[in-house]
Amino acid sequence: MERDVSLPAASHRPAPEAAQAAAPLSPPPALVLERLGYARAGQVIIDDVSVVLNGTARTLILGPNGAGKSVLMRLCHGLLVPTSGSLRWEPARPVRQAMVFQRPVVLRRSVLANVTYALHLAGVPRRRRRAQAFDALERVGLAGLASRAADLLSGGERQRLALARAWALAPEVLFLDEPTANLDPASTAAVERIAMAIHAAGTRIVMSTHNLGQARRLAGDIVFIDQGRVIEHVPAPRFFAAPGSMNARRYLEAELP
Ligand SMILES: Nc1ncnc2c1ncn2[C@@H]1O[C@H](COP(=O)(O)OP(=O)(O)O)[C@@H](O)[C@H]1O
Ligand SMILES: [Mg+2]
Repeated sequence: MERDVSLPAASHRPAPEAAQAAAPLSPPPALVLERLGYARAGQVIIDDVSVVLNGTARTLILGPNGAGKSVLMRLCHGLLVPTSGSLRWEPARPVRQAMVFQRPVVLRRSVLANVTYALHLAGVPRRRRRAQAFDALERVGLAGLASRAADLLSGGERQRLALARAWALAPEVLFLDEPTANLDPASTAAVERIAMAIHAAGTRIVMSTHNLGQARRLAGDIVFIDQGRVIEHVPAPRFFAAPGSMNARRYLEAELP
């Protein structure tokens, strides 16, 4: 399933007035995962995960390919329904959340229209959409390409457009699922800078990666996941200095040059 949900999912449609807000004034509610599980066709993909994501943290979900990062992110964003356990916002209230995927889908219209359409879906009044969209494009360095057909963008530009589309909604929580996995180093650096800027503006970032260098550069805390299980959730410095599990140590060692 590659659905682009930097466009808001129906179940998470932000309140119209909320989407116009600037950076949130207070951190969003905690996202509490309790014994969360997801199985499909008899295969357990997410296994008994209990994690709390709170504050305006920068959380990196780190793990090898096939560990279950994307499925976990989709569960968190409400695109998949858990088959066991639960997840909830605490205290409970509607949360403005957005998600960006490894392979961004762009609409066959202009770069600017890609963003104004997302604002339209979020209930932003027409008269405000253009300025808000331009502002978001400016922040990701795409204002100069506003009138270009979005399907002519390079991979890195597409991902920056997906980030602008998400950022324009002023999300309280942004899920980024391996947003640089298909990008060259320069585009990767640009996406990392934008993720940091979104975080600095007050958004909780939850980003998955299999890339240790990226986790070192970006993470405040690390959720290390392997075979559908969360092995540890610790501050990044502690993870890199002394991983608490054999699996994590092996993963770190395998990545050493
Ligand atoms: N829609 C699906 N149906 C069945 N199995 C799936 C589905 N999506 C993912 N999986 C399986 O779940 C496991 C975790 O996948 P994924 O979350 O994509 O891993 P990661 O993002 O860490 O690389 C893999 O074994 C994958 O084959
Ligand atoms: Mg994945």
